[in-house]
Amino acid sequence: MINKCLFPVAGYGTRFLPATKAMPKEMLPVVNKPLIQYGVEEAHDAGMRRIAFVTGRTKRAIEDHFDITYELEDQISGTAKEDRLGEVRALIKDCTFSYTRQIEMKGLGHAILTGETLIGNEAFGVILADDLCVGTSAGVMSQLMAVYDKYQCSVVAVEKVPAQEVDKYGVVAGEFIEEGLMRVSDMVEKPPADQAPSNLAIIGRYILTPDIFAILRETAPGKGGEVQITDALLAQARQGKVIACRFAGQRFDCGSVDGFVAATNYFYDIYKKTQG
Ligand code: UTP
Repeated sequence: MINKCLFPVAGYGTRFLPATKAMPKEMLPVVNKPLIQYGVEEAHDAGMRRIAFVTGRTKRAIEDHFDITYELEDQISGTAKEDRLGEVRALIKDCTFSYTRQIEMKGLGHAILTGETLIGNEAFGVILADDLCVGTSAGVMSQLMAVYDKYQCSVVAVEKVPAQEVDKYGVVAGEFIEEGLMRVSDMVEKPPADQAPSNLAIIGRYILTPDIFAILRETAPGKGGEVQITDALLAQARQGKVIACRFAGQRFDCGSVDGFVAATNYFYDIYKKTQG
């Protein structure tokens, strides 16, 4: 059973400037809930209770979100408005939250390595909250967990993307061993379309075994001068220790304006229905 989930949230979120100048991208609300809360709810649904954040400057609002706001809560206590805090209060009650800072933004791989101090020597989930995922029957992290339980190795969530978009993602290739599950033999970070080994792109959900930390320590900066998690995962894949899971569900790339608006429309429809 995996109990820890790491949220790398140190990125600058430049695609959302000026909104993200002083505020974390992960606090942008999709309807009335910040992106980060959707991610933590997904981890919680997968049974994870120890939530770890790799944060950076301007990210303090995330810590405040997963804490009690005494004055506000006192004000609305006993009123109908209190219900609106129900979901986040449940997370605060069930989970512990710990934080460490990535001092320099040296890439996702470096952010995950920075989280080692919070994770230790056990397998853990990673959620990039700007990929907002809606699983078909179970959440995407729950789906990855089921794969981990069976294969006991690193697992990455993948989806098919159009050929002209593969250069935005880590792309995998390998052999399908079950419906929707591929044992990965090759992976490339942001390949040009004509050099991509497939059109299966890694999205922001991973389960990683703890040997990834030693590999990351030895991983030189790759594309864009950043330490890439894809490069470290390739070392595990070469030993047959990475499974790619084509998850059942939908992903919104909320790191981009188009994906953020699509997610907002999707959740607004649900919101309208629940409001009657
Ligand atoms: P992105 O590539 O989306 O970068 O990072 P970003 O800085 O958040 O956004 P843009 O491109 O400037 O708009 C993917 C994920 O990795 C985290 C980000 O917080 C995001 O969740 N990340 C990235 C770090 O935590 N540290 C880094 O050094 C880089």
